[in-house]
Amino acid sequence: MLRYLTAGESHGEALACILEGLPAGLKVSPADIKRELARRRAAPGRSLRQKKETDAFKVLSGMDRGATTGAPVAILIPNAAAGRVAPCWVPRPGHADLPGMLKYGLDAAQVRERASARHTACVSAMGAFALRLLAETGARFSSRVVRLSMTENPSPDEARGLIARAAADGDTLGGVFELTCAGLPAGLGSHVHHDRRLGARLGAALLGINGIKGFETGGGFDLASWKGTLAARDRRVSGGLDGGMTNGGDLVLRCAMKPVPGVEAGVPSFDARTDEPAVSRSATSDVTAVYAAAVVAEHAAALELAAALLEKFGGDTMDEIKERVRVWRKKTAKSARR
Ligand SMILES: Cc1cc2nc3c(=O)[nH]c(=O)nc-3n(C[C@H](O)[C@H](O)[C@H](O)COP(=O)(O)O)c2cc1C
Repeated sequence: MLRYLTAGESHGEALACILEGLPAGLKVSPADIKRELARRRAAPGRSLRQKKETDAFKVLSGMDRGATTGAPVAILIPNAAAGRVAPCWVPRPGHADLPGMLKYGLDAAQVRERASARHTACVSAMGAFALRLLAETGARFSSRVVRLSMTENPSPDEARGLIARAAADGDTLGGVFELTCAGLPAGLGSHVHHDRRLGARLGAALLGINGIKGFETGGGFDLASWKGTLAARDRRVSGGLDGGMTNGGDLVLRCAMKPVPGVEAGVPSFDARTDEPAVSRSATSDVTAVYAAAVVAEHAAALELAAALLEKFGGDTMDEIKERVRVWRKKTAKSARR
């Protein structure tokens, strides 16, 4: 079983995570981890904080001479922006501030320290391992932003323009991104229960990323208006999944992300000390987190797919797993929809 936990807050001393269940012999270099962390950190639309963060990291355990040993992998990511944070009495509407204050009986919005997406750096560091495991067995991931606010398939120049205008207005932008994973073997996941259906597992992993509000696989919401005779003939409908299992085709997932709630222009809220109306203003927020979230989503989905792959093929070493995948691919080559 592949499982993980993360710990750490936005301005705490460090983030930490443990990834357990990897086979021995998976080669992952520091450059692999650094690259995935950098893709998340340097994505378009991010705040000035990301310029402070270096995402230096230390792998504390589970590796020997560049390869996993089968023991839990522990990673530490110190926060460059560590330090005491002044209490915030004005909750940001749309963030975890107010529900967190109510739930935990807090007088200020401290929950924002954990509810901020800083901990997703851990997901990206662990995602580097999952992406390597998938690549070793023949699967390749990619992601792209297919909508930024109202603009479909924005070019880099269009995106820069939209982000600059929103920043000038002190506003933030949401959007939609698409993940594709090509080369997955057929038969990952299962049809038998909701918690074994791969689409549901991927949905839980991706809807678990802060700010993700919509999830669809393949034809998604559009399919509601299709006729069955047409849908049965079009492979885009499945998006690589039928009956909760991979079918050998490209896996296609899409997520909608809301505009981040911390806005510089200010939105109406209240002061928790006085109960009087107050303006919630955030000068340190990302203008958009859609590009960064697409990268985190790749990593979260890769971790879930790696887990499903290990469930199907088992094995304590990468050599065992690769051999089992090879034999399975040969066996299913004719019938798998590829
Ligand atoms: C990579 C990433 C960066 C984010 N950056 C910010 C941010 O700078 N400011 C903010 O208010 N929300 C940010 N968010 C979104 C909030 O964490 C999220 O909107 C908040 O948790 C409330 O949404 P929820 O109800 O989906 O959890 C970010 C999310 C991700 C995935």
